[in-house]
Amino acid sequence: MGYLIGADIGTTGTKTIICDENGNILARELAEYPNYFPKPGWSEQNPAHWWKAIRETIPRVIAKAKVDGMQVKGIGLSGQMHGLVLLDKKNKVLRRPILWNDQRTAAECDEITTKVGRKKLLDLTCNPALTGFTAPKILWVRNNEPELYDKAAHILLPKDYIRLLLTGEYATEVSDASGMLLLDVNKRSWCKPVLSALQIDEDMLAKCYESREITGRVLPKVAAGLGIPAGTPVVGGAGDCAAGAVGTGIVKPGIVSASLGTSGVVFAFSNKVQKDPKGRVHTFCHAVKNKWHVMGVMLSAGGSFRWLRDTLGAEETAEARKKGVDPYDILCTKAARAPIGSEALIFLPYLTGERTPHANPNARGGWIGLTARHGKEHLIRSVIEGITFGMNDSLTIMKEMNIKPKEIISTGGGAASRFWRKMQADVYGHKVTTVNATDGPAFGVALLAGVGTGVWKSVPQACEAIIKTTSKVTPDRKASKAYQPCYELYQRLYHDLKAEFDAMAEMVAD
Ligand code: XUL
Repeated sequence: MGYLIGADIGTTGTKTIICDENGNILARELAEYPNYFPKPGWSEQNPAHWWKAIRETIPRVIAKAKVDGMQVKGIGLSGQMHGLVLLDKKNKVLRRPILWNDQRTAAECDEITTKVGRKKLLDLTCNPALTGFTAPKILWVRNNEPELYDKAAHILLPKDYIRLLLTGEYATEVSDASGMLLLDVNKRSWCKPVLSALQIDEDMLAKCYESREITGRVLPKVAAGLGIPAGTPVVGGAGDCAAGAVGTGIVKPGIVSASLGTSGVVFAFSNKVQKDPKGRVHTFCHAVKNKWHVMGVMLSAGGSFRWLRDTLGAEETAEARKKGVDPYDILCTKAARAPIGSEALIFLPYLTGERTPHANPNARGGWIGLTARHGKEHLIRSVIEGITFGMNDSLTIMKEMNIKPKEIISTGGGAASRFWRKMQADVYGHKVTTVNATDGPAFGVALLAGVGTGVWKSVPQACEAIIKTTSKVTPDRKASKAYQPCYELYQRLYHDLKAEFDAMAEMVAD
């Protein structure tokens, strides 16, 4: 029996799994690392931590699964998208990577839109310039740290930096490359007109593969340290959203996923390139050959819930520790005591600005509508409702684009709670299901490694064989109706407060 390894270089940590050739997961390991926020709106990490996490978790999953590491047949890499890793010509990391949730590049987004033209950008890259994407980060370094940029020889995404250390190859793949704003998403190759308008040298970019293709082989010295065969193939893998979609079976039309991690991602499969003319949702290449996807991204979905736990949830965290349960379970139980709409208390989850639907780095979070009557259960419920309304914004745009979800698969931390899944079904107005595969991106890229090394014929075939529905919640009409005015209020509040958000951002700008 051969084994496949999938590793997801995420924002809170790297999760690595090992599975057999039937897709059975034998072990999983997580190594966490810090996120640095040097200024308001900035977000960076140290890539040495990513590499340490890989070197720790791969041997650990092999040991935990009690398998022979020499039988590892392939590795797939997934990672947080958009992060900018800049290397000099000796592969030295030039600065701490600027991450997907960093908001410093508003001026560079304007620069890109002016230099390329909004329509051309949307036609070619299928997306507008957004602060989270990689190209504005490249320009930011060029504009603000020119001496450092002069030394830059290679531009890589987070997971592709790990690939370089594993294999010595500068390679990426279409799903993650789509989020750089430098790929012609229609043609699935680097976009020369955009590169030339922005004066970015194509030679600095990695070679771009399809997700299932073998991009390199593990170097002998590295392989020895990991306890796997020298020359183990490393497939393209995928950005964490597309990887998560493969790992939950979002590989055919009509199936949409709602993933609640730090970010909140609503992901719809598409047979063809489908764009929102207003650029509110992203159109990226899927990790399935010649398929695409449309995706809405909230920047602080689970992130808002974690913030609540960390700032106001000490009591629940202590109770959870005593009972040996997850603090989020206790928080959800308390939230369920408040009624739908939290008695007109609305939480805006824009703690790190917002991407979909507002594309506004200045957006701010907060509770609106607090009265002396509101208790902690209302505070908690309103946060969960605010996050769910934010996810529904993406779904609403997709429906305007004529994407017709038949079923919504709930994934990520938010899927663990039946209370939250029921709220999602009621707010979305669709059946919400869960599947037996709960390891998301790491599992998705292990499947891609299996496809690339011949274990399965195709990604849909692998998903079909392995991924099954485990639960289903149908929307309750009365509850859906009760949520509607709250959702509308939620939508209006952003617009009512937008100018104030700009004023607040101005107050803390330096
Ligand atoms: C996707 C995005 C996030 C990160 C989080 O566009 O920015 O989902 O990939 O890991």
